[in-house]
Amino acid sequence: MITINEHYLKLQASYLFSDIARRVAAFQANNPHVEVIKLGIGDVTKPLPPACIAAFHQAVDEMADDASFRGYGPEQGYAFLREAIATHDFQARGADIQADEIFVSDGAKCDTGNIQELFGQQTRIAIPDPVYPVYLDTNVMAGRTGNYKDGRYEGIVYLDSTRENNFVPSLPTENVDLIYLCFPNNPTGSTITRAELQTWVDFARDNKALILFDAAYEVFIRDESLPHSIYEIPGAREVAIEFRSYSKSAGFTGTRCAYTVVPKECRAYDSKGGTQFVHPLWNRRHCTKFNGVSYPVQRAAEAVYSIDGKVQIKELADYYLENAAHVRQEMARLNFNFVGGENSPYVWINGGRDSWEFFDMLLNKAGVVCTPGAGFGRCGNGYIRISAFNSHENVQKAMARIHQALS
Ligand code: MLT
Repeated sequence: MITINEHYLKLQASYLFSDIARRVAAFQANNPHVEVIKLGIGDVTKPLPPACIAAFHQAVDEMADDASFRGYGPEQGYAFLREAIATHDFQARGADIQADEIFVSDGAKCDTGNIQELFGQQTRIAIPDPVYPVYLDTNVMAGRTGNYKDGRYEGIVYLDSTRENNFVPSLPTENVDLIYLCFPNNPTGSTITRAELQTWVDFARDNKALILFDAAYEVFIRDESLPHSIYEIPGAREVAIEFRSYSKSAGFTGTRCAYTVVPKECRAYDSKGGTQFVHPLWNRRHCTKFNGVSYPVQRAAEAVYSIDGKVQIKELADYYLENAAHVRQEMARLNFNFVGGENSPYVWINGGRDSWEFFDMLLNKAGVVCTPGAGFGRCGNGYIRISAFNSHENVQKAMARIHQALS
């Protein structure tokens, strides 16, 4: 008799963004004349930067020629991309990261979801609330939690991110082994200072814990005092893994390219307390389960680091940040409390009512899709997230419609 992994039965019925897509599709079927504006899932709308497109085209041409055709590439990514990443994303910021510590992949969603496989079943997990649902759901699937009760899974240490702590969770008071952090934060758009991040690195070092640092939104940082990478913080190499993505920075949501950084010194422990380095384990997993990102896509990603590419991705992020500024301005005019949108494409708004109710109201009365905060965790209830990923025209139209719906 074939049996299923019963941990899957503990999951909520569907993944947040699939649930939203279903509700929007039902609304659209009943209201075919309404032009729905999507400010829900953080999906980019602007095309790939010209430098990436040129590199992409050239690489496709290379694939059409016997002399330059390429089959399987290195699972970890081509050296040209890994070297560009190490130089521009890390060494240029004083972070000591080498090319062979970079693992190129097809998405930070997959990497943040898969990384937990490396750690023991009894690992005590600390997860912020609200949170990108992938961190939590993948641990549920792996059987590291109990059942779902009152909006939370038993066995998880939740790190509340609330207005009181400026949406940066405090250090856990319980023993934890694996800590998920994301800054600039999805969903709240909050940021972490160097001093605050240092306290997390010190905590991990003192408690033999490991930090999974999701920096998928670092391209939106405009406050130069903020860290772009956890490796800018002394002591992080031993205790942190970092995730990056070209999805939001260079518009690769449909093209797929990301990377994970595992420094050689990054350590965990075996059941006897012996030190085990994580790098060879992730390498082993990557080589076993992944066959590399396609050559043209890696060439397109490499172009992000060219002189033109750097200018173009800054312009791209600036474009979405202008939208975020507009959302902030309109939410202030409507007297809502909100955070985010300054070093982040997300604005986190306290709607003062149930967040699914607010979501339904905006959809039905304004034809605008947001993300209900409750979908990110119990602390998200009462909030909605508005994404800046859309055209200026659509964001302006959406804000005007929200004004009208609320007045
Ligand atoms: C989001 O809207 O939270 C993100 O776009 C989801 C993702 O990156 O997978």
